[in-house]
Amino acid sequence: MLAALGLAATGCASNEFTRLGVPEPITEQGQRVLALWQGSWVAAFAVGLLVWGLIVWSIIFHRKRSEQLPPQVRYNMPIEALYTVLPIVVIAVLFYFTARDQTYLLETDEKADANIEVVAFQWSWEFNYLDQSKAEAAEAAGGDEDADPEILFSEVGTPDQMPTLVLREGDVVHFDLHSPDVIHSFWIPAFAFKLDVVPGHDNEFQVKVNEGTAGTYMGRCAELCGADHTRMLFQVEVMEPDEYDAWYAEQQEAAEAEQAEQAAAEAGAEGGEQQGDAEASTEGEGGQAEGAGTEGADEEAQGQDASDGGEQDAAARDEESEEEEAGR
Ligand code: CUA
Repeated sequence: MLAALGLAATGCASNEFTRLGVPEPITEQGQRVLALWQGSWVAAFAVGLLVWGLIVWSIIFHRKRSEQLPPQVRYNMPIEALYTVLPIVVIAVLFYFTARDQTYLLETDEKADANIEVVAFQWSWEFNYLDQSKAEAAEAAGGDEDADPEILFSEVGTPDQMPTLVLREGDVVHFDLHSPDVIHSFWIPAFAFKLDVVPGHDNEFQVKVNEGTAGTYMGRCAELCGADHTRMLFQVEVMEPDEYDAWYAEQQEAAEAEQAEQAAAEAGAEGGEQQGDAEASTEGEGGQAEGAGTEGADEEAQGQDASDGGEQDAAARDEESEEEEAGR
């Protein structure tokens, strides 16, 4: 026991036993969580040792010796003060470290190398790689909260086909969490961190991915969110810088090619057919160009996604954004 305490106190993070059930963290922030976890256990063990010691001491040295009762007292000020003050001290220390680390974990001041919007929907995930974070986009637009950053490319999953979140070693990654339906929770056990994805309120956090962590990890939804909650899984792939850069360029090229194709298809439709006009007339006034644009994007998304989940989500999001646009 004492040996274990000693090991934990030295913060030996590579030892599985001293991590007390927490996976090896792959981020700087995760290491802070691990340290808090270990420190809490050390404090708990110290309190435990004190209590066990007092129990054993009483059992051994205060056995019943005769029929004579021990001295009967009404109170003992020093003892009562001790067992009031000591728990308060314990709680204050735990509270201090928890508050300090929570502030650190939710800090988003540092400029991020990658900005990713995580859309959690029933029942999978969409990862949108952005040119900047939502907060930065709002700031650039003079405080307009509805100003959205540009989506460079996306990865959409379904309950059958889990998506992959790709990160680069050494990067500071900023996450904007968005939900179009119910509350989910974005959880990567290797981050030793999870954060709720709340409809109507986009949460954000960022992490620094450690060097030498290239590999594949699991991600989950950690909030009961409906029938297929257990299937809301995703993979996290941490790549070495060269590999990531090649992958990133490939994704961007593919997205650009897709956009060009879409633009060409739209130009063709405008030239020859009246379909565009018919759709625009049902949209109402003022939104002709935008209406035609989202319609095209919708068809594109449906063509690619084989499963229902993705389609419904894409459709739902389009509806939502159209409503927002109409409301403005
Ligand atoms: Cu989403 Cu559970």
